[in-house]
Amino acid sequence: MKQKQTAERVPRHIAIIMDGNGRWAKKRLLPRNAGHRAGMKRMISLSEAVFDRGVQICTLFALSTENLSRPQEELKGLFSLFREYFAKNVDTLIEKNILLKVIGDLTLLPADVSEMIRAGEERTKGGARGTLVLAIGYGGRQDILAAVNEAVRRGKEVSEAEFSAMLSTKELPEPDLLIRTGKEVRISNFLLWQSAYTELYFTDTLFPDFSDGELDKALAAFAERERRYGKL
Ligand code: FPP
Repeated sequence: MKQKQTAERVPRHIAIIMDGNGRWAKKRLLPRNAGHRAGMKRMISLSEAVFDRGVQICTLFALSTENLSRPQEELKGLFSLFREYFAKNVDTLIEKNILLKVIGDLTLLPADVSEMIRAGEERTKGGARGTLVLAIGYGGRQDILAAVNEAVRRGKEVSEAEFSAMLSTKELPEPDLLIRTGKEVRISNFLLWQSAYTELYFTDTLFPDFSDGELDKALAAFAERERRYGKL
């Protein structure tokens, strides 16, 4: 009998849509930005847990192009959190030997935030244990469109591999597992081209409550998946 081919035990690349911060805060009668702060706290320890489990690349959706249309007060709070994150966490990433990469349109962010991001990337350049990718001001369609426009500028047809190399994720393998917290069952303009064969995992748990134990559940579900890439 043909043996069932299960996925590699640990995904090489995990992507996470960190949804539900606002609802987490609402349940506690707190302002939305308190939910984002709780999300940031969780994000910091979760990104350590992920690398401890042997994952090599972790991509976190921190702010979509569309999120930039949220009320000014919420955006102000999020930008303050980004400032705090980059001021306090880059040293830890260096200590833990993690390379930081940010994808997205940094021109949409306040100039000082984008400078902190570029400095963080530069300082963690040597990180060899894992890669933490933060998607900030990121949109999957915008990523694809920029690559299409680049192909048009080059003036000749491109292959899938050449096209992939024009995306913001060019040096990264495609995600093996995409987790979305917070109950919604959609991709919301995340890594659209890159997740063509990614295993999807949805949980009702709101992001600040997405514990290491919940991560382990998602990893266990992934290990049971049969990946066929459209073949028999
Ligand atoms: C979605 O939840 C979450 C966001 C738009 C922001 C994610 C940000 C963080 C986890 C923390 C800060 C990140 C960094 C890089 C420091 P939502 O607000 O849409 O939640 P809701 O659907 O319950 O309203």
